[in-house]
Amino acid sequence: MIDSNLVIIKMGGSVVTFKDEPLMPNMEGIEGIAKVLVELRKNFRIILVHGGGSFGHYWSVKYDMHTKPLPYSDEGIAVVHESMIKLNHIIIEKFIKLHLRPYTVLPSSFMYKGQGDVNKIKELAEMGAGNDLIPVTFGDVIYTTENNFSILSGDTIMSLLGTTLHPRYCIFTTNVDGLYGNLDNKDLVPKIYLNNSGEIIATETEANSKIESSSSSYDVTGGMKRKISEAISIAISGCQVHLISGFRPERILDIVNNRDYVGTCISLKSTSQLAR
Ligand code: IPE
Repeated sequence: MIDSNLVIIKMGGSVVTFKDEPLMPNMEGIEGIAKVLVELRKNFRIILVHGGGSFGHYWSVKYDMHTKPLPYSDEGIAVVHESMIKLNHIIIEKFIKLHLRPYTVLPSSFMYKGQGDVNKIKELAEMGAGNDLIPVTFGDVIYTTENNFSILSGDTIMSLLGTTLHPRYCIFTTNVDGLYGNLDNKDLVPKIYLNNSGEIIATETEANSKIESSSSSYDVTGGMKRKISEAISIAISGCQVHLISGFRPERILDIVNNRDYVGTCISLKSTSQLAR
């Protein structure tokens, strides 16, 4: 059953930070989304996930945490985690100033042995019911098992939350308009339809246009490719997934109000109620 009152949004690291400038938050990016959330919260419960951008990604590259096999260095684990807490704090502080009521939940509190803890994830959806609170979580380095830690991307968190909570919409924001079929001519793919096995059965541009993606040098969790595979796993669970630019946050309101918007919508062919 779809939770028709719930929207889950990822603020990409490329929106909340300047991805190529180490440890630099993008306050305009954070503020732009916050202002839209004030509106959105009037009609929907929200769960927010944010990425690492030039905080978590920057340090995980510095400490070789994706090019080297486990175990990660203790120092790397401590520093990456601290940098994510710092970024989260910057975001939360700004949100509170803009009259939102964010409530940070560390990803380690709903993960157990590297897997999502269903009851704790369900609690996230309950937390914002009957009040104005917005649970906020983020990509992080988390303990898994046998003295190992692992990077958990915000995109993976989106798919854990999306497939467990069945929100009305899952919205990924990044620094691009959506998914491009061709990067050279910026040929945006507005709609992707899936069958029940998650295979792409149609797109709105030419049926066979190849899907391309790009990633910044700091992006250790797979850039757009990872996002698409997580988005597909959410969409096959029945939820509409949208990829939009976080620098045009008003598009979030267009999506929930069923208006035309610029972006990419991924959905099951049978459940699509598309905005374009
Ligand atoms: C990154 O999370 C987490 C760490 C590297 C610790 P994401 O992978 O979701 O971050 P962005 O959105 O791509 O920057």
